[in-house]
Amino acid sequence: MSPAISLRNVSRRFRSGDADITVLDAVSLEIERGELVAIIGPSGSGKSTLLALLAGLDRPTTGEVWVDGEPLHTRSEDELARWRRGALGFVFQSFQLLDHFTARENVQFPLELLDAADPVGTADVLLEAVGLGKRGHHYPRQLSGGEQQRVAVARAFAASPRILLADEPTGNLDGATGARVLETMDELRRKSGATLILVTHDPAIAARADRRLTLRDGRIVSDERERVSAVGLAP
Ligand SMILES: Nc1ncnc2c1ncn2[C@@H]1O[C@H](COP(=O)(O)OP(=O)(O)O)[C@@H](O)[C@H]1O
Ligand SMILES: [Mg+2]
Repeated sequence: MSPAISLRNVSRRFRSGDADITVLDAVSLEIERGELVAIIGPSGSGKSTLLALLAGLDRPTTGEVWVDGEPLHTRSEDELARWRRGALGFVFQSFQLLDHFTARENVQFPLELLDAADPVGTADVLLEAVGLGKRGHHYPRQLSGGEQQRVAVARAFAASPRILLADEPTGNLDGATGARVLETMDELRRKSGATLILVTHDPAIAARADRRLTLRDGRIVSDERERVSAVGLAP
């Protein structure tokens, strides 16, 4: 079976005045289906740029991105948008819930876009799964940061994505709350078999991943597969 994701010699350069800046520098990488991969590295090292390429929201300057054994570079913007709706889920640092929608409506929304069979029922099952079964009628402002992020996680998994991308999903949360959000994502990942790729600054979060990729100046400088036996973490 083809890997979930394959990057082949991917570079991304931006023009800045007269100079070209190289944000990703000949990155080659394969990610297996169902893996939980943490991407770490200093600010500006290219982490968000890498996620944007995986999502087909940006295109490499040179090199190729393949997802589920298919190339992204041959697809039109419309085809990419359709593919994203069905195959990808996103979680952002800033939650990005719709303020005038309840928790349930936020989770329902992507399902309505896909003409799914039972958006309300599915939303309730997902809210239950993230521990918010009784909070479906609440608006984001009535929920804590950690609860809002769990709604965002439920929404990201609503359309049964094969790949979930999360850009610093615990960045606005305290350590314990962040760990709970990660646990929620990990549980949904294991149940659904999705591949989860998450960018994080938090070593305790990264320690929970199957694999840690470290980016520095647009290159992968380390690729660790062992679980870190992190001191002070709950098992
Ligand atoms: N559209 C763009 N135009 C010019 N430079 C960009 C653009 N997008 C990102 N960059 C630059 O690329 C570098 C890496 O950015 P980013 O991927 O957001 O880093 P990270 O997520 O690791 O903090 C930064 O120096 C940023 O300024
Ligand atoms: Mg970033």
